[in-house]
Amino acid sequence: MDAAKTKHLSGELEAYAHWFVAPDPAAGGQFLAVTLFAESDNTARVAREVTAVFLRGAGAGELVDDAQLVVSELVANVVNHTVPDRRLAQPGSCRRIDLTFKKYPKWVFLGVADEDSTPPLLPVGDAFPASLVGGLSEAVLPDSGRGLLIAQRLATSVWWSPEERGGKTVWCRFDLDRPGVCSA
Ligand SMILES: Nc1ncnc2c1ncn2[C@@H]1O[C@H](COP(=O)(O)OP(=O)(O)O)[C@@H](O)[C@H]1O
Ligand SMILES: [Mg+2]
Repeated sequence: MDAAKTKHLSGELEAYAHWFVAPDPAAGGQFLAVTLFAESDNTARVAREVTAVFLRGAGAGELVDDAQLVVSELVANVVNHTVPDRRLAQPGSCRRIDLTFKKYPKWVFLGVADEDSTPPLLPVGDAFPASLVGGLSEAVLPDSGRGLLIAQRLATSVWWSPEERGGKTVWCRFDLDRPGVCSA
């Protein structure tokens, strides 16, 4: 394996080693967890605002636009697609959405957790090559299934993990040292 590939792989492994631990504030890490409810009228707006407040406060303001779009899509998915697991569902109560933000010097992790253990349908491969998409009319592009695709395009990595109590978290990682992205 050449040196560039080895460096890239060790960067990925280092990133994933960080994903499940809370960042240490003394090492420049920041953490925020917020619970929202799917049935509130302003859930998506609050999620976008919290995202901006966290990122600006953590010195990662350059990610605000992309992360707000991604959080909107992930929260909308909880609102539109989730049915809580039977053992988590409370009759007549609202569905929980737990947002997690973690910032390290090199990465930001965004997690959107819900109470439904059904996995999201993460797109594998592209329906159309990126170079062609701009030239296609809206009519031939699919009406649904774009939210996770947008997340995959804007974040460095998108995946999901099951929660022990039931439900799952959809995770995104944004890299802070992307070439061409200037600090705000
Ligand atoms: N949090 C979620 N829980 C369960 N299923 C999900 C969730 N998010 C997405 N999905 C599934 O993945 C599919 C693709 O999601 P997405 O790309 O956002 O497209 P859309 O929301 O337009 O269908 C959804 O149609 C749904 O079946
Ligand atoms: Mg969606």
